[in-house]
Amino acid sequence: MRKATITGWGSYLPPNVVTNKELEKIVDTTDQWIQKRTGIKKRRIADEDTSTSDLALEASYKALEKANLDPEELDLIIVSTVTPDMVFPATACIIQEKIGANKAAAFDLEAGCSGFVYGLSVGAQFIETGLYNNVLVIGAESLSKITDWDDRNTCVLFGDGAGAAVLQPTEKGGFLSFDLGSDGSGADALYMEAGGSLNPASLETVKNKMHTIRMEGTPVFKFAVKTMKRASLDVLKKAGLTIDDLDLLIPHQANTRIIKSARRKLKLTEEQIYVNLPEVGNTSSASVAIALAEAKEKSMIKNGDRLVMVAFGAGLTWAATVIEWNENI
Ligand code: ACO
Repeated sequence: MRKATITGWGSYLPPNVVTNKELEKIVDTTDQWIQKRTGIKKRRIADEDTSTSDLALEASYKALEKANLDPEELDLIIVSTVTPDMVFPATACIIQEKIGANKAAAFDLEAGCSGFVYGLSVGAQFIETGLYNNVLVIGAESLSKITDWDDRNTCVLFGDGAGAAVLQPTEKGGFLSFDLGSDGSGADALYMEAGGSLNPASLETVKNKMHTIRMEGTPVFKFAVKTMKRASLDVLKKAGLTIDDLDLLIPHQANTRIIKSARRKLKLTEEQIYVNLPEVGNTSSASVAIALAEAKEKSMIKNGDRLVMVAFGAGLTWAATVIEWNENI
């Protein structure tokens, strides 16, 4: 069976920077607390008129340019997001039209912060089966639009942004394995409860702030620490590799304490893990996609390198993949 690989990558962050000092003015918090407990220094926040598809579009243009691909050549667009432009139609369809991908199928996929890696696994399979040749996988979020700016437990954590990857067939390298999973017993640890069929939007749901993120930080933290190690090792094993074969780990950027714990448990050096959390905060589905594009732009990834991308998120879910980098198909 042929393999899929990443031939294009791109990221986009909205220009407006919000520092921890600025958050001190709106909630009872301090720059020191946020940095010590999360590692975050600042985040980007999209303006009122910018939606998730706008952010996604900018990242997609960059990824298509790197892959030297015209939008009309795309067969499929997959968008992973928890902040779609609307409940329906799919944000992927809005992007399909905006970008001019006339012959592309398009759909959204939601797996919390694990969504981009889930999306890579779906896109790779369309290529491996031979059904499609050119797939665009996007992770994009406008989390600021569903943040409760009065809740210090969550509002200091999140940021907006988008990342995109073009997937194409390859005879050498590419995605070697995937490890996906879920534990729905943790669904009540991280959620937005209204706006769906369970709690349709009403004056009551708005008054009770049910259209914003709610999180129990501690169970998510414990799940993350356990899962990052286990999924990284499992996905390497599925590829017939060990941790000694790894060149770079690109983890979901949620908390530097979670990332440090994974680094210690996996016995990796600081240079083997890409971290941009202090600058961008937690961008959920966009996190791994942005980190991948940045690491590539910083020349931290070259052909033949083995990368693990690993994420966890609402659901609770996790997802990991090993790719042997080969961008020259
Ligand atoms: N500023 C100051 N104090 C704060 C803040 C804040 N921003 N937030 C919480 N505190 C306080 C709490 O109220 C608590 O005070 P208390 O002891 O008087 O009750 C104290 O700090 C400690 O709170 P904890 O929740 O125990 O703090 P902890 O060190 O666990 O850090 C955090 C909280 C950062 C949320 C951590 O639990 C975490 O990172 N969890 C994982 C979150 C995550 O990764 N989410 C990812 C998924 S996101 C997605 O899928 C969309």
